[in-house]
Amino acid sequence: MYDLIILGGGPAGYLAAERAGHAKLSTCLFEMNALGGVCLNEGCIPSKALLYSAKVYDYALHGEKYGVKAENASLDHKAVVARRGKVVRTLVSGVGAKMKGAGVTVVKERASIVGRVEGGYEVEAAGQKYQAKRLLIATGSSPSLPPIPGLKEGIEAGYLLTNREVLTLDAVPERLAIIGGGVIGLEMAAYYATAGSKVTVIEMLDHIAGATDREISTMLQKEYEKKGVTFLLSTKVVSIAEGKIACEAGGKPLEVPFDKALVSIGRRANIKGIGLENLGVVTDRAGIVTDNCMRTSVENVYATGDVTGRYMLAHTAYRESEVAINTILGKADRMRYNANPSVIYTQPEVASVGLSEEAAKDAGIDYEVKKLSMRYAGRFVAENEGGDGICKILVDKKHRNILGVHMLGSYSSEIIWGAAEMIENELRVTDAREIIFPHPTVSEIIRETLWEFDDK
Ligand code: NAI
Repeated sequence: MYDLIILGGGPAGYLAAERAGHAKLSTCLFEMNALGGVCLNEGCIPSKALLYSAKVYDYALHGEKYGVKAENASLDHKAVVARRGKVVRTLVSGVGAKMKGAGVTVVKERASIVGRVEGGYEVEAAGQKYQAKRLLIATGSSPSLPPIPGLKEGIEAGYLLTNREVLTLDAVPERLAIIGGGVIGLEMAAYYATAGSKVTVIEMLDHIAGATDREISTMLQKEYEKKGVTFLLSTKVVSIAEGKIACEAGGKPLEVPFDKALVSIGRRANIKGIGLENLGVVTDRAGIVTDNCMRTSVENVYATGDVTGRYMLAHTAYRESEVAINTILGKADRMRYNANPSVIYTQPEVASVGLSEEAAKDAGIDYEVKKLSMRYAGRFVAENEGGDGICKILVDKKHRNILGVHMLGSYSSEIIWGAAEMIENELRVTDAREIIFPHPTVSEIIRETLWEFDDK
């Protein structure tokens, strides 16, 4: 009998396995596809490979602004996709090596929970039975595919794509329609618009980028529009047929022609077909319900990552898995989500942590906000000819601690963890100002914005 069986080898599962293995828990990990899960194989990592190629191409096209002339620059999409494959293979084999190093048994099969046995639980995979004292469920999420007429048929026929197929298309479609202006939709719009597609984003809300600070999502939309992306906001998809999407906007019908269309309207936790009912694990509309130690309703059964349906971010999953393993090991630890950063890897990048103005207002929090153009950071000006961005900081009006930091501009993704640290440690404006930022860096915009507050 193992100490721990883990279902799912994505970020939540493999990180839990690594930590458990190094803590000398005998651990068995089941993964039915490639190690690394959606994030590594068909999400975070391959999309970043594509986006980096778009960035390099964009620099080549607009190098003249920096005194660099590149003639006949072109983007070879097939080569971009091939490089994406190489990046993924390298990292997947890295995860395999980590499992080996931690002494984890990896079974490359689909597993499902059979039920309780004396002292633990039983799992079945490919006709074999495995037992463990504890279970950790990390089966992730899948694209949400609502019953829109024509959607299922379109996916089967191949003209409708999910996050998986959009990363491996063998040619750049002339017209790409994107249903859903959230994170996946925007990242793919950035790549394909630069690669040459005529991109149209259909979004049912009146703004893009979901819960992102509204001022920033408006600025981001303008940047996209400069690249030729069309946004149809407050627009509902009614039905889909090959070559055209029937929509409705303000009560009026509207047709969007396309060659390929991406469906990126959210994800659903993978809670079906894994035998949760055999243990009576409680789920809700989002996914498996856990407490902040990642314990489910069943003793010694844990769940982390997208399957809990809470944040659906790989970095959140990592931390949740650490909390689960620490709980198993009897070390005091718990999840705190108030300093959980999020990034949209567009160009320019969007990064935020903590409360947005909208969320602070909804929660009735008395806050003060200051913002500065990114052009107050010397390095930003040196590297972004004609470009702009913003840094926005929210502070609790009474206690003066930092509640939220929101950024639009280069390197934001690499800077935001520092802001998360400020929120996690409940730093006040005066404390955070004492931090020495390297100069010249774009990160200094945080320091500059902090000095906009009147605190003495
Ligand atoms: P999302 O929740 O970010 O965005 C979905 C969008 O689709 C929303 O704006 C929603 O209003 C819209 N929508 C829903 N139904 C619609 C309909 N019928 N017609 C038009 N619009 C509709 O979901 P997305 O982009 O699919 O991403 C899934 C998950 O993957 C997210 O939870 C995200 O956290 C994660 N992810 C994170 C990334 C990152 O951190 N950089 C990158 C990619 C994905």
